[in-house]
Amino acid sequence: MNRILGIETSCDETAAAVVEGGNRILSSIVSSQVLLHADFGGVVPEIASRSHLEAITYVIDEALTKAGLAKNGDGIDAIAVTNGPGLIGALMVGLAAAKALSLAWDKPFVAVNHLEGHLYASLLEDANIEMPAIVELVSGGHTLLILMSAPGQYQILGSTVDDAAGEAFDKVARFLHLGYPGGPAIEKIAAEGNDKSVQFPRPMLGQGLDMSFSGLKTAVVNFAKKNPTFPVADIAASFQRCVADVLVSKAVAALELTGAKSICLAGGVGANTLLREELKKAASHLHIKCYLPSKSMCTDNAAMIAAAGYYRLQAGPPSLLNVSAVANLSLSGTFEGN
Ligand code: KG4
Ligand code: ZN
Repeated sequence: MNRILGIETSCDETAAAVVEGGNRILSSIVSSQVLLHADFGGVVPEIASRSHLEAITYVIDEALTKAGLAKNGDGIDAIAVTNGPGLIGALMVGLAAAKALSLAWDKPFVAVNHLEGHLYASLLEDANIEMPAIVELVSGGHTLLILMSAPGQYQILGSTVDDAAGEAFDKVARFLHLGYPGGPAIEKIAAEGNDKSVQFPRPMLGQGLDMSFSGLKTAVVNFAKKNPTFPVADIAASFQRCVADVLVSKAVAALELTGAKSICLAGGVGANTLLREELKKAASHLHIKCYLPSKSMCTDNAAMIAAAGYYRLQAGPPSLLNVSAVANLSLSGTFEGN
């Protein structure tokens, strides 16, 4: 099971990739629906499903072509596909495509947890990550601190008790009329702002490894309502600084608690430059190796799904064709060693 076709359709990116040996990316195609959802300030599930259906075959075709492979499945050993968590209709499009190819090509397929996929972003770019590693997974739907002892062996150490960090970026951006997705929009305008101009609360600091971002989002919204002429760039910069401070301080706490040998960033918020710089600095103070996947590997893609599928197939049998899409599939319990 060496060469894997990965398929990812859990949210608003239609993606396919071919990955060899768990970390050699032969192709990675991502077709973004961002423009379709931008007018609505967030992902519209019905539009996402329809758009995946329109794009999926072209995206798979392009991934095979870029990898130098034929359309008949020759050279592909297995298909890996996200079956949750995510939007149910969106997940079903990718899952149906993977099952159809599995039948047509007579190749095994494996269902992969989207969050498990994100954990492999660093391994895709450096196969020799020092383990145990702490993976800080910060996306639009999840914010988790995970101890990864080996591929397939994970322990969740902490998580957000309310909103995900990416969700806070998206909600604050929507309130400030900065557009969707919020993370890149806030990052852009924050570059012109003073990040010390407003002291927003840093929730749950010094209180274990769980996090909270909902109160921070409310504090930003209330501040902007009370100070309508305050520069938006300053608010955005102060908010971004606050999220980065919390995420870095929680990652440091997890490193100190576990004695892990390295820290990896994962998920869409991992594309944030301030967070990347601050995490790198903190890791260097602790003399710990910091792995920052390229920004395109932080956000949703199918190479990470193919990599996760590769390691899964090393450890166990392929999935059965009756496997379902599960909107709220959780990370715990999906892995051996948990
Ligand atoms: O991992 P991802 O692509 O999809 C999910 O699985 O959720 O993450 C998307 C999230 C969105 O909330 C988006 O605003 C955020 O990642 N994001 C960023 C940046 N790029 C994407 N947040 C902060 N800074 C960025 N540069
Ligand atoms: Zn994701």
